[in-house]
Parts: sequence; C-alpha cells; structure tokens
Amino acid sequence: PAPVIVAIDGPSGTGKSSTSKAVAAKLGLRYLDTGAQYRALTWWMLSHGTDVDDPAAVAAAAGRPDIVSGTDPAAPTITADGADASGPIRTKEVTAAVSAVSAVPEVRERITALQRAIATEAPGGIVVEGRDIGTTVLPDADLKVFLTASPEARAARRSGELKGAEATDLAATRAALLQRDTADSSRKTSPLKKADDAVEVDTTDLTLEQVIECVVTLVEDKQ
Ligand code: C5P
Repeated sequence: PAPVIVAIDGPSGTGKSSTSKAVAAKLGLRYLDTGAQYRALTWWMLSHGTDVDDPAAVAAAAGRPDIVSGTDPAAPTITADGADASGPIRTKEVTAAVSAVSAVPEVRERITALQRAIATEAPGGIVVEGRDIGTTVLPDADLKVFLTASPEARAARRSGELKGAEATDLAATRAALLQRDTADSSRKTSPLKKADDAVEVDTTDLTLEQVIECVVTLVEDKQ
C-alpha cells in the first residue's frame, strides 16, 4: 500500500496514545506522539530555570534544546539535548505547566516544523497524534480522526494510568484534566479543535480494542 499519513486528535483520556500506537504497529506505520514533544520542551524549561508563566521567557527558550523523537510504535523515545525525557515528561509538574508552554506561538512554530519534517520523511507512512494535527500540522493527511469521550470516562482512564495516591483522587484528576482541555481549546494559536473533514469517534462506551479496530478499518479504507 502507498504511504499513508494519519492524524489522530482529541483531548486527553480519550485513548489517543494507546490507539495511535496500536494502529501504527498493526499497519506497519511509524508513530509520533506530539504531546511528548511539548512535554519534553516543558521539562527542559523547568529544569533550566525558564519561567514557564512568562510567555516572553518561553518564546526566548523555545529554540534552545534539541528535541528528538524516535518513531517506532513498539518503543517510542523522546530526548531533550540528548537526555532521555520519557520518564520526567509524565510528572505532575510537567503536566501542570505544558499547556502554558504550548500556547506560546514561537513554541508551536518550532515544534510544528519538527512534526512536519518527521511526517514527510517517515518511510511507509505514519500515525501522528495530538491536538492540532488535522487542523494545522498536517491539513492534507490522508485520514483524520477526532477521538472524544465523556469527562467521566476520561478522568477514570487517566486515573487508571496514574499510580498510588494520585490515582485515588478521581475528582482532582477530573478537575486537572478539564482545566488542561479548556486551556488547550481556548488558546489563540492552533487550539484543540476537530477538523471539518475529521471522522469523530466517541469512545465513551467502546473498549480500547474496539477503538483500534475502528481506526484500522478507516485507514484500510484509504489505502
Ligand atoms: O497528549 P498530551 O496530554 O501528552 O499533551 C500534552 C499537552 O501538549 C497538551 O495538553 C497540549 O497543551 C499540548 N499539545 C499541543 N498540541 C499537540 C499535542 C499536545 O498543544 N499537537
């Protein structure tokens, strides 16, 4: 089959990452987690003294670290200036700061350019997951999917991924998740939004396997 570019967008807790990785693995495509890139840049800024609440400081630091993504769906990697960022990007501190960093236009410009280069160079095609892939990063993608789920389902899923005490506080998880969605959806530069030509899949009552099957079928229809 011809190389295929698949854009998968949606808010957190909709099963975007698990679905995107599994679809890429099943179909022999590469995989890019664009949220991990914004998180890696945020982690680098937090550990280099950048005031992440100051958009001018964030803009000035946006181009400094070298962010490199490995695109094997079985073992995706992410580094900032050569340092493995895969652990630290999942911390509460990074999660709390990433929306402010990703709202800065200089950050989006830089990360978007990286994403386009990776997608164009991917041999055989790629699944790219994020918030603005179908609308802004890859408007000519062969297939655009927009995943949704009720806030309750999303909070429960996110809680299941967290460990220990963090996992037990469902109300706090739900509040943090909704706050991040609101920030991501209301920012000026390429907000989280369904592309007009995206296929919307409501995953509230679907198992992960069902969502994967559904997206695999959508991709195969395009090949
Ligand atoms: O997908 P994940 O939850 O890891 O994304 C982390 C954050 O990165 C999002 O909350 C959003 O602020 C930002 N992001 C973005 N555009 C993307 C992917 C992620 O702004 N394409």
